[in-house]
Formats: sequence, structure tokens, C-alpha cells
Amino acid sequence: MTHVGYFVRIRKDDIAADVQTHTKQTMVFFLIIFSIIIPLIIYYIFLKKCVDDLLNSVPNEPKCIDSFLSIFGFSITFLKNPSDFIQLLYRKYGKLFTVHLFNRRYVFLYDEETFIKTLIKDPKLTMEFLDELVYKDGFGMDWTKIRKTDIQHEMLKQYHQFLMGNELENLNQSIFDSLLEHIKEDNKKNLQSSVSTVTVNLFDFMSELMFYAGTTTLYGKTFVNEQRINFYQSYLNFNKAFPICLMQIPFKSLFLYSSIKKRDEYIKRFENLKINQDQSRLIQERIELFTSDEYKHLLTKHDIGSFHGILLFAAIVNTVPNACWSLIDILLHPEALYAVKNELNTIDLSRLFERETLNKLQILDSCINETLRRTFMGLTQRQASENVSLTCNDGTIIGLRKNDLLTYPSLIKHLDPQLFPQPYTFQYDRFIKQQEKKTVPSIMIFGCGKRMCPGRYWAINEIKMLVALVLTQMNVELLMDDWYKKKLCERLEYEYTGLLTNGGPKKKYCEQFRIKYSYK
Ligand code: HEM
Repeated sequence: MTHVGYFVRIRKDDIAADVQTHTKQTMVFFLIIFSIIIPLIIYYIFLKKCVDDLLNSVPNEPKCIDSFLSIFGFSITFLKNPSDFIQLLYRKYGKLFTVHLFNRRYVFLYDEETFIKTLIKDPKLTMEFLDELVYKDGFGMDWTKIRKTDIQHEMLKQYHQFLMGNELENLNQSIFDSLLEHIKEDNKKNLQSSVSTVTVNLFDFMSELMFYAGTTTLYGKTFVNEQRINFYQSYLNFNKAFPICLMQIPFKSLFLYSSIKKRDEYIKRFENLKINQDQSRLIQERIELFTSDEYKHLLTKHDIGSFHGILLFAAIVNTVPNACWSLIDILLHPEALYAVKNELNTIDLSRLFERETLNKLQILDSCINETLRRTFMGLTQRQASENVSLTCNDGTIIGLRKNDLLTYPSLIKHLDPQLFPQPYTFQYDRFIKQQEKKTVPSIMIFGCGKRMCPGRYWAINEIKMLVALVLTQMNVELLMDDWYKKKLCERLEYEYTGLLTNGGPKKKYCEQFRIKYSYK
């Protein structure tokens, strides 16, 4: 046998052996799939809930509405239109019911008195789940270590000190100046390129304007100038990537590589933030807190960047769509536009940022509340930290399992025709309390209790100032088809996908939100 023949024989034998091993490996692989993974999936999808019910149920649990797929529950139906879905369940099952959403048990309780006045104060109902979801799952922080310290309590104290009271006026003035400056810059740019009338998408235009004005107010001009390159795009990327990063899945850094990269690109920008005179007091005090002897060894650069990045996100993400929808509502309703413009004529615009001036704008205030009432997905949640039995004001007893999410759906109230006749239509003066009318029911947009949104006053002021500036400084024409205008007047429609936020226009109707504008 020649050497060549020998090697050919050996190679053939090797290949045959290889094929055999490969076939064996494939069989083992499928065996594992069939014997372990598939039963596991079946268990999770169909049986987990039954086992859970058997082992963990507690007395006086509210009725649980079953779905075919126990792990997913009604997640898909919920995501399509949470407002209609929850209202449907409320009409069918009353004020108290449980549903499975995103592999969690949500106990809905539509009883404002009990929720806001009694249950929210119960120390066994916490927001730990949301903190953990945001900081641990969303940002990959070592939350177990950080939550043992007082840092979160300190940050909450700072929010209440520096987003409200006297500091609020400084924030108002700063964002007013920023908005004006951006508007002037835009006007100059348009004049330089000899275009007097520009066509843009309203949401894109306002979002960028508010992003830069908000960031300049909180983090200062120096920071914004340093970050200018792709900063806004980086924020938009973060917006898309962050909800994906919240997913609790194995091998996350591998499967979600691209989203995590986008998230980190945004938060890296805040990692080396230094105190600067043009920053807001809130940010200066935060930087001091993070670098204090107590916390400087606890927090990594990634933690610091994440805390800053999420604050800016919280400040912008809901303010922008709500400002846009408020403006759209006003532009779509000539009687509202007329009344708001008249009201704006009664104030000194150069003092718009002052408390007294903003308080005078009662019609604009009513318009904004009327928009928020119809757009915000009001769901306030607290998680049971252990099995607990709660008593409602009317004596109903609610048994909650550890980790159940007790949820107050304020959206049911906001769209209740008994409280707000013709609930989907925009009645611009609905919230103007006239002496002869009985007072209008309150709305709950910013949550409640100790963790209620600390930026709520600033948010409303920002929206007021932005809408007032647009209506007084610009000529704006909505380039919307008449049939779509009619549709929106009957009922606003928007994307529901931003779980932690409220949405912009439906993707397929984005084109309807183009505006033509020029400066006066
Ligand atoms: C229209 C605009 C806004 C809406 C609808 C909104 C809504 C909310 C809601 C519902 C919560 C959770 C409250 C709870 O679960 O009880 C929240 C939390 C928060 N919001 Fe806002 N918000 C807005 C604007 C702002 C602004 C302008 C800021 C300014 C920085 C801000 C800062 C925060 C912060 C820091 C938290 C977390 C507080 C904590 O950890 O306890 N928000 N917001």
C-alpha cells in the first residue's frame, strides 16, 4: 500500500467516524430538547400557574381571570390596547380582579379612596420590584448591594428639594431661556438658508427641542456642548434599547448585545460628569452625593452614568409626547385655540416662567389636563413584599401573595362617562372650576404616595411654556388629512408599546403629524 493510499483510507475511516459521532451528538441534542427543554416549556406555558396556585395561594384572593397560556396570560391583548382591555375587565368583573401579565400576577383594585388613603401607606407594599427592574435588569447594576445603603432615600430627598419649591422657579426660568434660544437659533438657521416656511414632523421637532432645552436646564450648557455629537440620536437609541434591556432572560449580554451596547453608549456620556456652575442645583448636589466619602467606593462609573441617564430619561420621555398631544388637541379645536390665544394675550410673555404668570394660564392648564386625562396610561403599582391581607374602606378583604402587584388603574376613572361625560372628546374648559359648577373630579397622572413623580410641577410648567411659545412665536399649520382630523377629534389614538412611558402617534399614521411652520 502506498503512503497516499494509506492516508486516503485513514481519511475515509476518519470521516465515517466523524459522521457517526456527529449523528450521535445530534441525537443526544434532540433527546435533551425532547426530554428536558420541551417539557420545561410546556410546564412554564401551561402548568406553572396551576402548581403556583396549589402551593402559594392565600385566603381571600381576588378572582383570577384565567387565560389559555398561563405564563403569558393576557400580555399580548394588554399590549395592543391596555386601556380598552382593563376597562373591559372592569365592566365584566367589577372593581377587583387578578390577571397574569408578563409572567406576573396583577391584582387590579379600582377603589381610589382605599388605594390612595390607606393601602399606599402599608409598608408591606413596596416599589422594590420597579427599582430592581430598572436598576438591576435595565442597567445591570449591583442593586442588591446599593439598595442596602441610604442612597436612594438621599436621591428622593434631593428630588423633593430641587424639583419643587423655590428651585422650581429657577428650573422654569432656565428652560424658558433655553427654549427661546433654541427657537431663535432655528429661526436664524432657516433665514440663512432662505426658507421662511419649513415642513417637519411635529413629534420629531418638539422632541429634539425639548431634549436640548431639558438637558441644558438640568445638566448645563457646558455638558450639552461637550456631548453635542450624536447626543440626541444616542438618547433616541437608548429609548428604543432600554425596554429591551429590561427583559429577564438567560445569557442576556449575548442575546441583547446590540441593545446593551446602545444603552451603554448613552450612559457613558454621564460617567465623568463634574460639578459646573451652569448645571441645576439638583445635578450639582447629586454629583456631590455620588462622590462623597460615604458613596464614592460604592458606586462604579457605570452606576453613576446610569443614575444620571435615567433621570434625564424620566424628565424628557413623558413630557415630550404630552406636550405634543396638548398642542395637537388645541390645534384641532378652533374654540380652544381661540380661548388659549386670548388668554396668552393677557400676560407679559417675557415673564412666562414666573409662578404668578403660569398660574394665570387657567385655560391652558385645563387643556393640558384634558389631554393628559385621555393619553396617560394611569396604572400605579405596589408589590407585596410578603403574603398579606388588606382591608378596603368598604370592608372587603384582599389576600395578596408575595410578589403580587396591586395596581390602581386610574385610567378607568379618567375615561368614566359618569365622571367625564363624552370621555374621549377634548373639552378644553372641562377642568376650569367655575363657581356655579360642582368641582371636576381629580385625575391621577403622576402616581401617588411617597414615590409620586417629583417632577410633576415642572412637567406641567414645561408643557405650558412650550405650548405658549409655539402659539405666540410661530405660525403652525397641521398638514393632517381631514378624515384623520375627524378621527382624532372623536378619539385620540397612539402607540401603546412604551410600557414605562406614554406613546407618540401610531407608526402607520406618522405622516399625518407633519406641520408647516414659520416664525412670526
Ligand atoms: C408629563 C410628564 C411626566 C409624567 C406623566 C410623569 C409620570 C411619572 C410617574 C407616573 C412616575 C411614577 C410614580 C409612581 O409610581 O407612583 C414618575 C416618577 C418619576 N418622575 Fe415623572 N413624570 C413626568 C415628568 C417628569 C419630569 C419633568 C421629571 C423631572 C426630572 C420627572 C422625574 C421623575 C422621577 C425622578 C421619578 C422617580 C421618582 C422615584 O424614584 O420615586 N418626571 N413620573
